[in-house]
Amino acid sequence: MANLSHRRVTVGVCGGIAAYKAAELVRLLVKEEAEVRVVMTPAAERFITRMTLQALSGREVAAELFDLDRESRIGHIELADTAELLVVAPATADVIARLAAGMADDLLTTVALATKAPVLLAPSMNVNMWSHPATQENLATLRRRGVHVVGPAAGWLACGWVGQGRLVEPPEIVAAAVAILAGKGLARRDLDRVPVLITAGPTREALDPVRFLGNRSSGKMGFALARRAAERGAQVTLVAGPVELPTPPGVERVNVESALEMREAVLAREEGARVIIKAAAVADYRPREQATDKIKKQEGGAGLTLELVPNPDILAELGARKRARGAGPLLVGFAAETGRLEERAADKLARKGCDLLVANDVSEPGSAIGGDTNRVVLLAPGRAPERLPLLPKDEVAGAILDRVVAMLPTSSA
Ligand code: PMT
Repeated sequence: MANLSHRRVTVGVCGGIAAYKAAELVRLLVKEEAEVRVVMTPAAERFITRMTLQALSGREVAAELFDLDRESRIGHIELADTAELLVVAPATADVIARLAAGMADDLLTTVALATKAPVLLAPSMNVNMWSHPATQENLATLRRRGVHVVGPAAGWLACGWVGQGRLVEPPEIVAAAVAILAGKGLARRDLDRVPVLITAGPTREALDPVRFLGNRSSGKMGFALARRAAERGAQVTLVAGPVELPTPPGVERVNVESALEMREAVLAREEGARVIIKAAAVADYRPREQATDKIKKQEGGAGLTLELVPNPDILAELGARKRARGAGPLLVGFAAETGRLEERAADKLARKGCDLLVANDVSEPGSAIGGDTNRVVLLAPGRAPERLPLLPKDEVAGAILDRVVAMLPTSSA
């Protein structure tokens, strides 16, 4: 049996050069025995005719919101209600923005707003429009609302640029539609084979064979990043301080204890990485001496003074190396603050030479170190801060990776 037998799929076609591929998409959906209805935006009709899509779908194509005949049956609601899946292909930057804003100013956006069916977007646009923060933020908003996104692919674009922005091939869109309608959801592969190095957890700075200086980091934030990145196709190496968490599937884990060990593990793997995310809470200081025997309690209740020396700042070192070479992995740092969050984080962003800094106020309820949620602000040079709401760490990780994908040089994404 065909994969989409009697499934009601509405295809929204927007005005972009890739609109011609909608014809092939409709043909493949019909071949899978889907009942296909096509909705075109006014701009789409400049690229492909209604006649083509009508012939291929075997059904009347809808395009006008104020169609007298169709609207006598409240046609836009009928279209929204009958769909089991709404596929928008190609989805232009303009339609993505209007969907994110919840607008209903043409038939397609009205159907999208009114439907209870899952929505699948297949974006297609110029590479700079794709990587623009406005587009990425709109997509992040839509993803948070459960909208599925397939592609775009990288390659030659009709506008003459090379990069990410090509509509994925119609068979891939059909496969995504099948997966969604089968209730399997859609794995995003926008970090396919990208080597990503992530640090997580605390470090322990030994005082003697049984005692150490440490902190309360649980590793949850870094492990969520590793899990999400691996799900999106990245080759993830996770340099983890001492935590009890299981290794996410498909992730290579390197266990370390101290800041010096973490530095060695990170620097040894820096060269192969395209992205480095430093979520670990690295101790800024370590005891000057590490006693070989357990330190004895002082006689007569006397106190004990520990002398601490600074640890190397791994992130700052990575930033300095990148600056010196004029190239290197995309560097994502974190800043754990207890007050004046954005001011202190902006200082760290510049001082440590990061491309992106994730700032969290660990004194805030919900963002405490060790907790399951976090409220972060994303800072990047020359860009306005992006303030995310309080979210589970898994979703924070997803939003950080959305930013990373948008910032990656297009050849590597
Ligand atoms: O592990 P969880 O319980 O889930 O908690 C998550 C977290 C609070 C640990 C995480 O969200 C976080 O904020 N991690 C960074 C903690 C930290 O060390 O922040 P910082 O502001 O002191 O350091 C700034 C950046 O420099 C960090 O990316 C840090 O990894 C890096 N650093 C710091 C010191 C050092 N010697 N070397 C470094 O590389």
